[in-house]
Amino acid sequence: MKDLIDIRQLSREEIQELITTALDIIDHPADYAHLCEGKKLATLFYEPSTRTRLSFESAMLELGGSIIGFSEANSSSAAKGESVADTARTVECFADIIAMRHPKEGAPYVASTAVQIPVINAGDGGHFHPTQTLTDMITIAREKGRMDHMVIGCCGDLKFGRTVHSLIAAMSRYEGCSFVLISPEELRVPESVREDILESQHIPYKEVRSLEEAMPQLDILYMTRVQRERFFNEADYVRLKDSYILTPEKLRTAKKDLTILHPLPRVNEISTAVDSDPRAAYFRQVKNGKYIRMALILKLLHITKA
Ligand code: NCD
Repeated sequence: MKDLIDIRQLSREEIQELITTALDIIDHPADYAHLCEGKKLATLFYEPSTRTRLSFESAMLELGGSIIGFSEANSSSAAKGESVADTARTVECFADIIAMRHPKEGAPYVASTAVQIPVINAGDGGHFHPTQTLTDMITIAREKGRMDHMVIGCCGDLKFGRTVHSLIAAMSRYEGCSFVLISPEELRVPESVREDILESQHIPYKEVRSLEEAMPQLDILYMTRVQRERFFNEADYVRLKDSYILTPEKLRTAKKDLTILHPLPRVNEISTAVDSDPRAAYFRQVKNGKYIRMALILKLLHITKA
């Protein structure tokens, strides 16, 4: 595997190996501090980001490597009309690995076919976001101690939320996992996710409107932001943006060992009063993201601890 574009390029065993490496990094950071000396990561971000870009950059720096890149399309030659493939070929002259976020679905894939160095999809439009899913999975492994036999509730913008699409693709491969997809009618998961992932593998799932009704059965609650930037008109966004707001009251019927995840950024969909609940794992999730990206960079660069 040269690139990571879709989470399904990684087998369950490979994901477990990444998690094991990430946990070893957490326990023995000094063993990893120089492994990427002389290597450069380029972060090519054509869309806004806080966590993903900074955690990729921190990951490379903590491996002893260095970083270059841009964080908005307007500051790159994309503003002059350069193609993604040409930009990638240029960056290949300077860097050893690329992490790319782009508003167009498939752009990181196009880049990956233009260069010899690894390209990581750091989010492509409303499509996929595999490294967020690795972040979600190491968090599930650490919080729950298992990946199988879970009822996973995904709530919010399931249409445009790329993190949800990748999470469903990944978690549907574990025995006994089922999904409760909680969204307004207009923001249901795309047909491609329903048909190509859930139905083709006979994964149990239901689509519901009410978070309150779903709550008691859930082992994981994955909240998402309504993806304003992907709406065709502002009025629809305004109508749908506050469809779900998680509050301590709504958690009263939840399992004691529920894990609450959110890829962040949060807008309104989780009240800050929930943050002190021990089940709220979303800031621990951010931290895990750096370690799993360190493990991924090492894997794609074929570097192992001596
Ligand atoms: C997500 C994304 O970019 O898709 N953010 C992230 O990478 N942590 C979720 C979002 O923007 O809502």
